[in-house]
Amino acid sequence: MENNDRAAGDTYSVVRIDNALVPQMAELELRCFSDPWSEKELADSVASPFYCFFAAMDGERMLGYAGVLMTPPEAQIVSICVEPSMRRRGIARALLRVLLQTAASAGAEVALLEVREHNAGAIALYESEHFSCVGTRKNYYRNPTENALLYLLELRSKEYVRDLPAGNERNDAPAGAFSDVLHDTV
Ligand SMILES: CC(C)(COP(=O)(O)OP(=O)(O)OC[C@H]1O[C@@H](n2cnc3c(N)ncnc32)[C@H](O)[C@@H]1OP(=O)(O)O)[C@@H](O)C(=O)NCCC(=O)NCCS
Repeated sequence: MENNDRAAGDTYSVVRIDNALVPQMAELELRCFSDPWSEKELADSVASPFYCFFAAMDGERMLGYAGVLMTPPEAQIVSICVEPSMRRRGIARALLRVLLQTAASAGAEVALLEVREHNAGAIALYESEHFSCVGTRKNYYRNPTENALLYLLELRSKEYVRDLPAGNERNDAPAGAFSDVLHDTV
């Protein structure tokens, strides 16, 4: 999937992550998070049929990645991060949309995520994609300890469906078709 929205010289592809990309995921984790997943945790998740990760790639270089855990009828967004020097170019939004469309096509009805309560940039991204805050998890994060805000998006909501690109409006795949969809996506 080639990104066509960006200015010349600012193009990237969105690809499904496989094991070969795990070392780059681990490097990005270290640059983006104060409590990063280890390379082993990432490798185990990438190998799991219940997770799906996508990366924004500029050639061989990973600019960002995002992942979802399917627990039908829910899809849990488990991570999203972008190389610091490549932020505010729409990469996270593009990755989030790929995750949501993949999850919806596999039958997910809601997408959920947690975010640090002081992570204003990520919160602005999620709210601009029509997620709503539905709760708080006290002291959920470590290093530093911080509350999590729980955000939810109904994948059949008018707001979400309205913003889908033409041709992606349908969301009626049977639950359980996740792995089939994943193998066909991107
Ligand atoms: C949060 C993060 C993934 C955003 O990545 P990004 O590629 O810069 O985001 P995008 O360019 O797609 O931004 C989309 C929208 O989100 C909002 N946004 C993103 N970063 C923002 C910031 N720092 N401040 C305010 N709004 C921000 C804006 O509305 C933005 O749209 P705009 O640029 O047209 O104003 C990135 O800052 C990051 O990797 N942070 C560290 C890891 C992290 O916190 N991940 C989230 C865990 S829940």
